This record gives sequence, structure tokens and C-alpha cells, in this order.
Amino acid sequence: MRTYKVGGAVRDRLLGKPVTDIDWVVVGATTEEMLAKGFRPVGSDFPVFLHPKSGEEYALARTERKSGRGYGGFTFHASPEVTLEEDLIRRDLTINAMAEDDQQNLTDPYHGQRDLEARLLRHVSPAFAEDPLRVLRVARFAARYAALGFTVAPETLELMRQLSESGELQALTAERSWKEISRALMEDQPQVFIEVLRACGALKELMPEVDALFGVPQPQAHHPEIDTGAHTLSVLEQAARHKQPLTVRWACLLHDLGKGLTPEEEWPRHIAHEFKGLKLIKAVNERFKAPKDCQELALLVGEYHTHGHRALELKPSTLLELLQSFDVYRRPQRFEEFIAACEMDARGRRGLEQRSYPQVDYLRGAATAARSVAVQPLLEKGFKGPELGEAIKRERLKALKAYKETASF
Ligand code: CTP
Repeated sequence: MRTYKVGGAVRDRLLGKPVTDIDWVVVGATTEEMLAKGFRPVGSDFPVFLHPKSGEEYALARTERKSGRGYGGFTFHASPEVTLEEDLIRRDLTINAMAEDDQQNLTDPYHGQRDLEARLLRHVSPAFAEDPLRVLRVARFAARYAALGFTVAPETLELMRQLSESGELQALTAERSWKEISRALMEDQPQVFIEVLRACGALKELMPEVDALFGVPQPQAHHPEIDTGAHTLSVLEQAARHKQPLTVRWACLLHDLGKGLTPEEEWPRHIAHEFKGLKLIKAVNERFKAPKDCQELALLVGEYHTHGHRALELKPSTLLELLQSFDVYRRPQRFEEFIAACEMDARGRRGLEQRSYPQVDYLRGAATAARSVAVQPLLEKGFKGPELGEAIKRERLKALKAYKETASF
């Protein structure tokens, strides 16, 4: 029985990147031998075990065959006769199909090292098509390694295109897709993830609402980049540059979906796109079962981002409605994330990336002003029930009027 490090651990060591988790492949062993050595089996689907001490994953060398549509349609074959090369050939990318023994001797039958040097994400073999999730994985790796100069090999992009066209992506579960999407959005260049998905036709399959934004013009005066798809990518780029959390990045991706619904004769204006986009945002949220905080923020940013941009012109009563919609009193963090998404939206415009955005401080100040209204004195005056609610609102409105008059913006 021989064990080798495989996959990301080998790839990232060769790239000089920190290695976080190590996957191992075991050649020449049976399940019984693994159990006898104290390894703990993981689930019942695959011959994968956890090391009794390190907790790292050890998988028996296996070959895989796809026997049907979707993720359930797998059969695999693991036996002590399966060679390291046979195990590596069923993997996704050449740079992920290298193995290393405990002396750091590399087994690299599919030239992963050469592709690392050439900065190419290239599939190992036609077996790539056995798992459509790999389309998303390649796009995610493209986003992660874009700064190093990596691109997708043309023949791999072609295979991804065929897989996308075949309708296979529809069979992916929401959970598997979301895991890839959320990880990709947290990379340094998440816009590359969307670009690669679009280039192979997968974006149209996965998020047609985002795909539809490409080719839709916006008024040049506000949006020098004109194209709504290009704008969305820039907003995402800014969100990563400003190290925004996943919630904000997700909201950035979906904030303008309504613009894809504007009839051509109304271009480049997009009247009420904020409201029209809500049903699309809801659909995308639900399709991928995005976590609740991501879903909520995306909907709120979709509905109110232009309020954010016009913050300084808003009447105190509108400002109050905005703050109430966000429940800033109990959910201060969510309002901060909204402000951040608005700022990223403003910065995601060509040539305007560095322009000051006083709306951030103004909105923050407004939230503080509204929050400063104390409930106790109103209770002491005898207000209760709905009347108390009204009295609090009146006081908050007063506070916002005073804020608007005195704030120096
Ligand atoms: N793998 C694959 N196809 C998949 C998932 C995984 O071929 N759909 C293989 C690849 O060889 C990959 C290895 O299994 O390198 C481990 O997968 P995983 O831990 O998901 O990814 P890593 O490559 O380690 O990358 P990351 O740094 O993103 O975790």
C-alpha cells in the first residue's frame, strides 16, 4: 500500500501558495485494510476515509464511469489493482492531476507541471465531462489564478461549451453549485468567474438573468462603460478590491437584474428597474438556495441602491422609510453592507472608480441620528402599543430633519 499527496496540495506547493488541506490517494489497498489501520470511512458512496489522527482525507485509487445524467449517475471502481495513473486521469485539470510521494517525488503523467508553467487550465481527458460541476470549478480556478496569468485552454473552453449546451448543468444540485459560486465570489478576481462562465455559455444556463445584462446599454452620462454586463463585472471587481464579504458580493452581482427586462425602445433608460428586478433576484436566490443573509441583502440592494446614490437629496421622510426598511435599529450590520454595495456600484463605473462617495458617511450619520432616539422618555410620557410606534417614528423624523439641516455634505 502506497500513499501520495494529490490535487490542490501538490498544485499549490508548486505554485508557492500556502497549502491548507491535504488530500491523499492510496494505491494497492482494500477497504478492509484501511479499516484495520483505524481509518474512519466517510459516507458510503465513495471509498474515502479520514486518517485516525490527522483527520485528512485518504481516498482509494479509483476509476469512475458516468452511467447516467446528474450527480447520482456515477459508478466507480476501486480495487488494489487501480494504478496511480488511472486514478489521476479521471481528474479535472492537469494541474490538479499530479501526485507526490513522501520524498516529494512527483508523478505527473498528464503534464500538470508544464501547464502550471504555461499558466494553462487544461482538462486531463474526456473524463472531464463526467462531472458538469467542473465547468464551475474551472471558472473558479480562473478567478483564483487570474493574477498569476492563468487562462483556460481553448480546447477545455470548448469542452465546457459542449457540456453547457448539453443541458447537463441543470442536473447540478443547488448545494454543489452554490459552494462553487460562493467560493468563486470570494476570490480576488470574481469577475473572471462570471466572464469564463459566459465565454463557455454556462452563464446562460446557470444565471440567464445575469447573462441577459450583456449588450444592454445604460446612459453614458452616468455609466461611461455603457454596457450593463460590463458594469456588473466592474462592480464585482470593486467589491473584491475592497475586500467585501460574500453578502455584498452576491448583492453586487444581482443588483441590476431588472435592467435586463427593459424593452429595447426604452434603452438606455431603465425606469423602475429596481422594482422590476426583484422577482429575478428572488428566482436566482432560490435556484441556488443562497443563505438567508445573502438572499436578503441582494433583494434590499436591488430595491434601494438608487436611494443610496441619491441619499443626499432624499427627503427626511424618505430617508426614514429607507432606514425602517432595513430595520437599522436591530440590524446595523445589514445597513452597513447595503451602504458598501451602493459604494461598489458607484465605483464600478469606468473612470469613476476613485471618485468620492459621500453617501457612505451621510447614510451612516442618518442611521446614527435615527438610532439616537430614546424610547424611555416616550414610555414615561405614557405612550404604548401602536401609539408608541408612531411617537418613535415622529421623533426619528425630527432627528433626521435636524441631521439633514446640520450635516455638512
Ligand atoms: N476533483 C476533480 N473533480 C471534481 C472535484 C475534485 O477532479 N469535481 C479532483 C481534483 O484532482 C482536485 C482534487 O479532486 O484537485 C481535490 O478536490 P478539492 O479538494 O475539491 O479541490 P482542490 O483541487 O484541492 O482545490 P481547492 O484549493 O479549491 O480546495
